[in-house]
Amino acid sequence: MPTLNRFLEGSFAPVKEEITATDLPVTGQVPAGLSGRYLRNGPNPLGLDDPNYHWFVGAGMVHGVRLRDGRAEWYRNRWVRSKAVAAALGEPWPGGPVHENMDFAANTHVIGHGGRTLATVEAGALPYELSYELGTVGPCDFGGTLPGGFAAHTKLDHATGELHAIAYFWAWDHVQHVVVDAAGKVTRTTDVAVSDGPMMHDFALTSRYVVLLDLPVTFSLNAVSAGVELPYVWNPEHQARVGLLPRDGSSAVQWMEVAPCWVFHCLNAYDDDQGRVVVDLCQYDQSFDVSTLWSAHGPVTLDRWVIDPAAGKVTQQRLDDRWQEFPRVDERVVSRPHRYGYSAVIGEAARAITAAGDFADDAFSNALLRHDLVGGTVEAHEFGRDATVGEAVFAPAAPDAAEDDGYVMAFVHDPERGAADLVILAAQDFTAEPVARIHLPARIPLGFHGSWIPD
Ligand SMILES: [Fe+2]
Repeated sequence: MPTLNRFLEGSFAPVKEEITATDLPVTGQVPAGLSGRYLRNGPNPLGLDDPNYHWFVGAGMVHGVRLRDGRAEWYRNRWVRSKAVAAALGEPWPGGPVHENMDFAANTHVIGHGGRTLATVEAGALPYELSYELGTVGPCDFGGTLPGGFAAHTKLDHATGELHAIAYFWAWDHVQHVVVDAAGKVTRTTDVAVSDGPMMHDFALTSRYVVLLDLPVTFSLNAVSAGVELPYVWNPEHQARVGLLPRDGSSAVQWMEVAPCWVFHCLNAYDDDQGRVVVDLCQYDQSFDVSTLWSAHGPVTLDRWVIDPAAGKVTQQRLDDRWQEFPRVDERVVSRPHRYGYSAVIGEAARAITAAGDFADDAFSNALLRHDLVGGTVEAHEFGRDATVGEAVFAPAAPDAAEDDGYVMAFVHDPERGAADLVILAAQDFTAEPVARIHLPARIPLGFHGSWIPD
């Protein structure tokens, strides 16, 4: 373990204050059709004195920019007020439901659903509901309709308005598929038996199936005993497999074995016209010990898995061998065939993660990628050596615009100002100068996931 904790310094260093800034300066022009908020969550611990700090367990801080009528109205960053965060800030805790004593300042994703803004996290805790201006409302169990914990990653089926999630919790002998309706009430849960307590960070959704990734990163009591902050370790005894759970609950899960690997994120999935399921995802093709992000791991590439339930087999194909993460599609095509995908080349994160500090391809460091998976082409928008960039999110130009007709937005660190910009790229002119760079008054640490939430 390094003497310095890479996740407390440089591009990861937490910020120390909450800021409200209005009428933000812009280079270029904010598209007049974009009215809403771009929000992004990430860990931002309040104390900086823990050398064993694990990036995944820092208290969540949500950063947001509100756009309207061609202007950038405000920037706000706010800690999620869990009980511990509220106490550290000297504030009363707003209170609310807690699952199995797992109160946590949700740090992984932020979504809008059923009129709520929700900061989400996995492994047993509940989401936290936030106000429009990112104040903490309190923990959310969907009006008492959620029986257990929730999940960081969700998939919204735009055709039905259903929000799907896979919840896992170390003390369960199953994972739980949760369906939330458009009004924000849980309408169905299905328990799926699993062994060893696998981490299921993400999953995929098609029109017919929920695609489960049961991979060899599992809960470890030994790691708990050793004081590991995130006790999920590589477990070679755990058979890696992919499961197809029919969305309509018509039958049990069909499991198919795959070679040991690790996947944090799926780009998207869909049913093809031959009864198969196509899943595009970012795959680490060697072991990945989540409990210690400093252990070296293999490359992470964009791959396509074709799951054939009739043959009971999964075939894999590499789509792009650049190291990349945070794959996203136009949210409107989730669960249906996609042509385009966007991802981040993870130079900074990879340098922090690999033990040797090496990185496969510095030339693509700090870049966003736009994949045309039908045309078989990739474009890179590079931001420069020290301009770190994280996940990008697609916002359509209009509700009925074609896939890829819109904007790709992300927080990008501007090394000259020592602060972040919200950069807006035209998806269909991806390598051109940004349409807009909204200059924010502070750094934004590298973090996890976010959403464009139109008004
Ligand atoms: Fe994630």
